[in-house]
Amino acid sequence: MKLTSEILFYLEAGLQIAEVSGLFPTEYDHKQTIEKKLDPLTTQFPGSRLQMSILGAMTTFTIEESEWSKLSGKTILIVGGSRSGGIGRAAVEIAHRNNANVTLGDWNEEEGEDMSKELKDRFYFQKCDVTQWDSILDLFEAIVSKFGEIHAVLSNAGIAGENFLADEIDPRTGRLVAPDLKTLDFNLYGMTYVTKAALHHFSKWPETQCQLELTGSVASYIDGYSIPLYNASKMGVLGLVRGLRCMLYGKNVSLNMVAPVSKPIAMNRTVDFTFLSVLRSLD
Ligand SMILES: NC(=O)c1ccc[n+]([C@@H]2O[C@H](COP(=O)([O-])OP(=O)(O)OC[C@H]3O[C@@H](n4cnc5c(N)ncnc54)[C@H](O)[C@@H]3O)[C@@H](O)[C@H]2O)c1
Repeated sequence: MKLTSEILFYLEAGLQIAEVSGLFPTEYDHKQTIEKKLDPLTTQFPGSRLQMSILGAMTTFTIEESEWSKLSGKTILIVGGSRSGGIGRAAVEIAHRNNANVTLGDWNEEEGEDMSKELKDRFYFQKCDVTQWDSILDLFEAIVSKFGEIHAVLSNAGIAGENFLADEIDPRTGRLVAPDLKTLDFNLYGMTYVTKAALHHFSKWPETQCQLELTGSVASYIDGYSIPLYNASKMGVLGLVRGLRCMLYGKNVSLNMVAPVSKPIAMNRTVDFTFLSVLRSLD
């Protein structure tokens, strides 16, 4: 299987590469187009970091089928992965197919329970709401009591859809109603809850190499289209990663963010790439 990085080179923890945001080649062989677009930026942001990211934009990763076997026997928690056709759901399927113990937390109980019937062994579903701290703690307690040490956590739950400029007036007071901030609640605060719980649990087994993967977005780097709260939430996820990674130095934990772009072909690659990074951490 060949995977081509588009914006996905952001995954590599330690690279400060947001400066090239907006330069997302649709296909890796558009090398010249990329270089042309990068020219003005190289002048604007000279330096090795940018150079690194230019290389990264054209990196092709190859995963041998045999590499998936590293997932075998590992315990993986995926938060947000019930919806059929979604990134989290595909991640569950890849991990489970490769003999990992998989726990899924999602508030979509109906599809989660259907997955339990389908996947049976080595799979456990628990309803959870990422905006509720106790719900997250319950989820982590459940996976540990079922499978023991957790090797990797993919925090993937997220929503999109907003109309920030729509004004709602409270008929009782005649005053403007406060904006609905659930996009931040789900995408940023929920992600922060999962991060806190994961790092707390990882610290209980310091000898085991652990991986935390957060799902950001292309909107973590570039302007979203009329989705300011989504943009804020996903840039916040990137901020969380950048603020935390130096604090994890010397611990047996790696922290990455994957930045999907909403194109079917890229999405497929993203799913695989997410697990490539998980795989690396499980060596
Ligand atoms: N699809 C894209 O094009 C795209 C692009 C960029 C980023 N992303 C990000 O990737 C992630 C997955 O996106 P997707 O398109 O696969 O969406 P999806 O709807 O398939 O996956 C999100 C999952 O999270 C669950 N969820 C939502 N709110 C929850 C909550 N409060 N508690 C628990 N579970 C909750 C949903 O039930 C769903 O199963 C999201 O974080 C999204 O922002 C997606």
